[in-house]
Amino acid sequence: MNKNLIKLAIILLSAIFSSASSARVLELSDRFLEFKHESQWLVMFYAPWCGYCKKTEPVFNLVSQALHSTNIRVGRLDCTKYPSVTKALPIKGYPTIMFFKGNQEFMYSGDRTKEDLVDYSLRMSSPAIQLVTRVESIDMLKTSHKSFFLFVGEQIGTVWTTFFDVAEGFQEHGFFYATSEEIATQHFDIEHLPAVLVHKEENHYFYPHAHKAHEMTSSEVNKTMNQWVNNERFLTFPKITRFNIRELMSTKKYLVLAVVEEDKLSQVATHELEFRDMVEEVIRKYRHRYHDHFQFGWIGDPGIAHSIVMDNLPTPHLIVINSTTQHHHIPDDEPMQMTINSIHIFLESIHNQSAIAYGGDSFAVRAYRSYFETKKGLVELWKGNPVLTSVLFGLPMGFLSLILYGCFCADCMDAPEEEDEDDHEKTE
Ligand SMILES: *[C@@H]1O[C@H](CO)[C@@H](O)[C@H](O)[C@H]1NC(C)=O
Ligand SMILES: *[C@@H]1O[C@H](CO)[C@@H](O)[C@H](O)[C@H]1NC(C)=O
Ligand SMILES: *[C@@H]1O[C@H](CO)[C@@H](O)[C@H](O)[C@H]1NC(C)=O
Repeated sequence: MNKNLIKLAIILLSAIFSSASSARVLELSDRFLEFKHESQWLVMFYAPWCGYCKKTEPVFNLVSQALHSTNIRVGRLDCTKYPSVTKALPIKGYPTIMFFKGNQEFMYSGDRTKEDLVDYSLRMSSPAIQLVTRVESIDMLKTSHKSFFLFVGEQIGTVWTTFFDVAEGFQEHGFFYATSEEIATQHFDIEHLPAVLVHKEENHYFYPHAHKAHEMTSSEVNKTMNQWVNNERFLTFPKITRFNIRELMSTKKYLVLAVVEEDKLSQVATHELEFRDMVEEVIRKYRHRYHDHFQFGWIGDPGIAHSIVMDNLPTPHLIVINSTTQHHHIPDDEPMQMTINSIHIFLESIHNQSAIAYGGDSFAVRAYRSYFETKKGLVELWKGNPVLTSVLFGLPMGFLSLILYGCFCADCMDAPEEEDEDDHEKTE
């Protein structure tokens, strides 16, 4: 015990403090690699020139304050100063946010908001499943978590062991709890035991196979529960960002996205709000009709939609993405003229595959996509700093550095990082 304390003291000393207060984000050096397993860490790997890192910095300060009283330490590491770290860890772009506990390391892929980062860190620092032993605790979970999964019943049998595996697999993405029948029935109408349910947005939904699991093979239970959790872990109408869109694609559903434009204060024009509300109403009222094949959501940054459709779509708009083929569909109607009924017809035509599909993931489309992204990047760069852009283009290396900048700094939603780099080489 004493030995550990001394070690910890050394760790803290060896980290170069940005301030004496432990509520601050610790500025780490490459010695981090030696001591990372000694404690639980949330670390941002950054480069001083990266704009996304600068945006994340204030958020990280808040996260650090929020986690102050926990045993999770929050740090950041300048990879340009300590390049050996980028070789030792799977860091492919900036910022990379990782969580470390013991010898395990996890890559954070969620949204870079204080709330999401704090939830994530708390989740990762606890066991995958936590036991609920008091009726009131469920009330607390309902208010503190946007959603959570709950196992009800005796902790034996296939459903329990599968729930355990699934909880470990999805620990990065959701909260998992287990409780007894007596406690659960005070909150939920449980008909069969064991039961697995998800609570979100004041409703709860059951994993449909729990009471029939004894008639199924364990791999069927595993497969269906994994799929169910993967589908239910998203809210009914989440805000889609560059960071979570890939996660949503993993549902393998059609993504139905209302595209609006948020200003700097996160305000949306009234007519765009009305449009977004109408799209939301479709999934709220007709969940039974759409939930199996469609995941709804909204985008506040039209730039994301432009990257998907490779065109400057006006707002508000509606786009539907086929998450397996990455094709997208856009309605023929003017969005502002659309009604709930015309959205039904549009979605029906997508589901019966009679709607026209655009884009996709073929080589030609990917090449065009990176051309579009590069062009967009250039235009933005030019708007931001014409002098720098001219200078960059005066130099033969200019184009290359721009591409490198794009590879490392932009979070491109449509393909994994490695493929992005290929794309850029191809268009070069
Ligand atoms: C259960 O399913 C998941 C995903 O479908 C898979 O990754 C995992 O290996 C499976 N586990 C077992 C024990 O079959
Ligand atoms: C996407 O397109 C493929 C091929 O047309 C189709 O088989 C699949 O059902 C579509 N939908 C989703 C949600 O992937
Ligand atoms: C597909 O759905 C659309 C819209 O409801 C309908 O007009 C069309 O006839 C359907 N096509 C097929 C092949 O079922």
